[in-house]
Amino acid sequence: MKIAVVGSGYVGLVAAACFAEIGHHVICVDNDPQKLAVLNRGDTPIHEQYLPELLARHRGQRLRFSDSLPDAVRASSVIFVAVGTPSLETGDADLSYVETVARDIAQSADGYKVIVEKSTVPVYTNEWIRRIMQLAGASPADFDVASNPEFLREGTAISDFLYPDRIVVGVDSERAAETLKEVYKPLASGSYHQSASAIPQPAGAQTPARMLLTSAKSAELIKHASNAFLALKISFINAVANICEAVDADIEEVAVGIGTDSRIGKRFLRSGIGYGGSCFPKDVAAFRSVARECGYEFPLLDEIVRVNNEQRAVFLRKVRTTLWTLRGKRLAVLGLAYKGGTDDIRESPAIEIVRSLLHEQCSIVAHDPAAMDRARQTLSGDVTFADDPYQAAVGADALLILTDWEEFASLDLTRIKGLLRYPIVIDGRNLYSAESMRKHGLQYVSMGRSTIELESVASAALKTKT
Ligand code: UGA
Repeated sequence: MKIAVVGSGYVGLVAAACFAEIGHHVICVDNDPQKLAVLNRGDTPIHEQYLPELLARHRGQRLRFSDSLPDAVRASSVIFVAVGTPSLETGDADLSYVETVARDIAQSADGYKVIVEKSTVPVYTNEWIRRIMQLAGASPADFDVASNPEFLREGTAISDFLYPDRIVVGVDSERAAETLKEVYKPLASGSYHQSASAIPQPAGAQTPARMLLTSAKSAELIKHASNAFLALKISFINAVANICEAVDADIEEVAVGIGTDSRIGKRFLRSGIGYGGSCFPKDVAAFRSVARECGYEFPLLDEIVRVNNEQRAVFLRKVRTTLWTLRGKRLAVLGLAYKGGTDDIRESPAIEIVRSLLHEQCSIVAHDPAAMDRARQTLSGDVTFADDPYQAAVGADALLILTDWEEFASLDLTRIKGLLRYPIVIDGRNLYSAESMRKHGLQYVSMGRSTIELESVASAALKTKT
């Protein structure tokens, strides 16, 4: 099929590369000349597993980049809209880019087209797109509007796209339903997954992909409700972690105990410094606004946000309690990205914590495997960047773990201890067990678990000697 994808941001670029990968001819449109130059040069603007391979495989073949929306619209039967929907100060999503694109599509279309919202948008957006297109002169017989939300996680976006838990297609006409079924046929029939060149199947992925046909409004709500529910799970486990600390229980044990109930599920019950990124904070706020507009207050959403923000303060209190005073302390910070596996620092709890520590006049030496270039732009001058975790640890009063990068979970703790000024690790992501820290003689402060104090480290060492 011939597909246009409008917007080469995270969702747009991944979708465009994956549509090409499953056999379609794709034109990805963007009005940012710099982005297009990067893409046409053969570079990959975001850190995403398998994306460089897919772009190299399809660029110039089944995948083209263009700045001309009219050309792309005329060349395609399906147009996916994946432009940004940033937060306004009110928490509402700013839909002005979506509106502009809808108008431009209406003015360029030369026959029946299916316009598919892929950006995360509030319920009713499909109706607005329809209205704007008609106002711009498009005849209702010449187009359908559908909603096909994405559930991609940064870092695993390509695998998530090609091996999805479900494909949600929100349509209000049979013709649009048939078109989108055709688009996703290689995933829904499993033919892509059987091809020799398919990217590797992630553990636990079900094939073929399950397709859910819903109304457009239901699909719009599914996206907001999914992200809000995942954020709820995280805030819930973080609130339980705070109780665990108060009563000396262990959140890791509690999370396994809760998550083993198949009705609850194990995933998204990792306690830590709270969620961040470009999706959960924005989408929970937007869902809150949508609910209010519909006449429902939804205070549960406010509480999710409150608990999440509180987690940063919980972590800072731990640093303060452990180090007594903060002014002048040298802290090694591992992790700046909002989660492991990405260079994205948008709404990163790690960045917020670093800013607070700088405000308290700590000196920070930070390392992140992918996010240092981006972090340099926002923290310039105030933070020293280290090439690896060990360089960051040299002479530091404590080591702080703020992002769950895999490489931070397998540090050489003997070496770390030898480099630190004080043997203290404060872990906002619970990457280590109490046993390994105790064995290495490190004071270990984590989330929702008892602190391994130096005294007990010392007495454990004594016991082993005698
Ligand atoms: C999230 C959703 O998981 C995707 O399904 C959705 O498509 C995407 O938003 C979006 O709307 O575009 P993403 O923001 O890439 O994806 O990252 P997640 O892996 O969901 O993590 C979000 C945040 O939650 C991170 O800061 C992570 O560290 C935190 N988290 C996650 C926890 O604190 N605990 C957990 O158990 C899981």
